[in-house]
Amino acid sequence: MTKKRIGILTSGGDCAGLNAILRSATHAGCLAGYEIIGIEDGTAGLLTVPVRYRKLTPQMMDTNIMRQGGTILGTTNKGNPFKFPMADGSFKDRSDEIIAAVKGLNIEALIGIGGDGSLAILRKLAQKGGFRLIGIPKTIDNDIGKTENSVGFETAVWTATEALDRLQPTAASHDRVMILEVMGRDAGHIALTAGIAGGADIILIPEIPYSLDAVAKRIADMREKEGRNFVLMIVSEAVKTAEGKILQVEHKGEEKRYGGIGHYLGEHIAAKTGFETRVTVLGHVQRGCPPIPMDRLIACAFGVEAIKLIESGASDRMLAWSKRKVIDVPIKTAIASYQDVDAGGQMVQIARKLGICFGD
Ligand code: F6P
Repeated sequence: MTKKRIGILTSGGDCAGLNAILRSATHAGCLAGYEIIGIEDGTAGLLTVPVRYRKLTPQMMDTNIMRQGGTILGTTNKGNPFKFPMADGSFKDRSDEIIAAVKGLNIEALIGIGGDGSLAILRKLAQKGGFRLIGIPKTIDNDIGKTENSVGFETAVWTATEALDRLQPTAASHDRVMILEVMGRDAGHIALTAGIAGGADIILIPEIPYSLDAVAKRIADMREKEGRNFVLMIVSEAVKTAEGKILQVEHKGEEKRYGGIGHYLGEHIAAKTGFETRVTVLGHVQRGCPPIPMDRLIACAFGVEAIKLIESGASDRMLAWSKRKVIDVPIKTAIASYQDVDAGGQMVQIARKLGICFGD
């Protein structure tokens, strides 16, 4: 008798912990009697003929896999199959090709590991094609609703915190304002969390409007009234200029990405305060590192619970981390409830009580 099969893919930008999910789903799936196949490069692997996939076995998935950043399957964060960019500049709906490919794999269900964008696309495909889908949330941005944590977030925060730890001594040695620009897309979770943990004096996030004058005043006060010779500042990539302009970088043939606010602020703060200012843009360092324990733990738990959900016959559900446990929620609800920073929430208030300035 042929074994029942489960397909798994990683989609969207990579982050720490993806391999840990692949490992845990493979172990739990094989233990439950399934054959696990890993689809390469997200939906891109389903668009090639023949479909690019490989069998995943517990033997391949030793503990070292769990420690590795990136995804052994590869991933993509471009090429929406419903609006696929073709070489001649036109767009084509290639969803039927993907659905046929999924059906051709004879899988009982697909485990899609992705952020809100990827999960929305995979859900649309599953609804149209009538195949079973279980979603696992991953993104350093931590902006998916209904889950306290997405895999990859904790590691990104750890990396940004460590960056602040390293910037502080050099800032103090040179009497400088150090600005750290971090990722997070439209949500300020990385900047807020790492800012508190890493002892930032100023945190700028897209959810809280700021003024350059307020930031400059805080810096002047720290120097003149509090005798501080350095300032640590962390800024989310999506923070706009004081005039409300969105700063983005264009990569040829791709969607625009945020970038540039750190240098914009560096220039203006130096001019306004006279303080020597330096800028560090952390970038993809936040994504490509070994996962810290919390991300490994959540990844292990999500992989195992995804298999349990499939065994139970469930579909269209996303795993979520809530009150130290794994629960499952409708994918639709999770992607519909975007989670950015609550500007009046407890964590922002705590930061304010610690003397952290948000530039407002
Ligand atoms: O969504 C994850 C993320 O790392 C964002 O924080 C960032 O804005 C974007 O992806 C960067 O994308 P890319 O890897 O295409 O440069």
